Amino acid sequence: MKILVTGSSGFIGTALVKKLLKSGHKVIGMDFAPCNKDFVIDTKFQNYPYDFTDGTLIQHLIDTKDFDPDVCFHVGAIADVTTIPKYDIMQVIRTNTFGTSLIAYLCSKKKISMNYVSTCCIYGDTNEYPTKESSLTNPKDLYAHTKLAGEELIKGVAETSHTLNYNILRNSVTYGPDMRYSLAIYQFLSKALKNEIIFLHGNGLHTRPYIYIDDLIEAYVKILEKKIVNETINLSGSKFYTTKEVAEMCIELTDSKSQIKYTPDRVGNHLREEIDISKARNLLNWTPKIELKEGLTKTLKWMEAG
Ligand SMILES: NC(=O)c1ccc[n+]([C@@H]2O[C@H](COP(=O)([O-])OP(=O)(O)OC[C@H]3O[C@@H](n4cnc5c(N)ncnc54)[C@H](O)[C@@H]3O)[C@@H](O)[C@H]2O)c1
Repeated sequence: MKILVTGSSGFIGTALVKKLLKSGHKVIGMDFAPCNKDFVIDTKFQNYPYDFTDGTLIQHLIDTKDFDPDVCFHVGAIADVTTIPKYDIMQVIRTNTFGTSLIAYLCSKKKISMNYVSTCCIYGDTNEYPTKESSLTNPKDLYAHTKLAGEELIKGVAETSHTLNYNILRNSVTYGPDMRYSLAIYQFLSKALKNEIIFLHGNGLHTRPYIYIDDLIEAYVKILEKKIVNETINLSGSKFYTTKEVAEMCIELTDSKSQIKYTPDRVGNHLREEIDISKARNLLNWTPKIELKEGLTKTLKWMEAG
């Protein structure tokens, strides 16, 4: 298959492209950040170092006969909730909503099956735990609002064009080698390695069902293999942990003398994220395999290797 991956230079995009190339697929990566150097020399990889919010570019791709991917994973976004407050608000909205609608439009025009990488953050503090795909969405910050808006815009393009097949894939917090340095697990391990204080937001009792990157990518591959379309699917780890438990695990694994201290909570930081993944288990015959301790150990090895 020929697969378009937006955000192909980011954490999840890079892991996905690696896996797709290894499985023999052709990949078109679209990201304005430089891509992994292994991709440059892979003849199955085409690099489009472009901005997907550029309407002229998207129209050009629509008009280009040779641009003919079968499937798209729209992974690209401004995703870093810790740095989003420093971004221009309109840049976040433009990227995560307008950019997503342009990719949906491109996919509808070229009959490319679209997989939108959304987030479990859209549930915020919801009405049902474990949270199903049908549970109340209650986003608490700009990031989550824009990701939910992206979902709605895709539905709008599909309903109006009648030519768009799409899946909405709601990931929980993802971690593992190549992860962004700003993500909590990287910060905890990094501080623990240096015996520095680990600061937790609020009371440290926020729950998250962390998913290891390989488990997430395996689910994406199953979506391709099983030709799943027009589904909304939660993808998370099977157990949830408090941030305090994760920090303690990081301290234990590194045999660290780090202490835990608390800072005021981050605005929009929902308290509970406990996700029901029974739909993914049944539909994809998939289950997350890497327990948190094992995933942290693998992540630590990657960090120590520099
Ligand atoms: N990492 C997580 O824990 C997590 C959890 C849930 C959902 N997600 C979702 O997964 C996706 C990927 O997250 P990530 O952690 O890999 O983020 P990331 O920041 O590592 O990657 C995002 C990539 O998108 C690219 N990008 C941004 N705007 C672009 C534009 N206009 N044109 C071209 N490229 C652009 C960036 O350059 C970057 O390489 C996002 O959609 C995010 O919402 C991530």
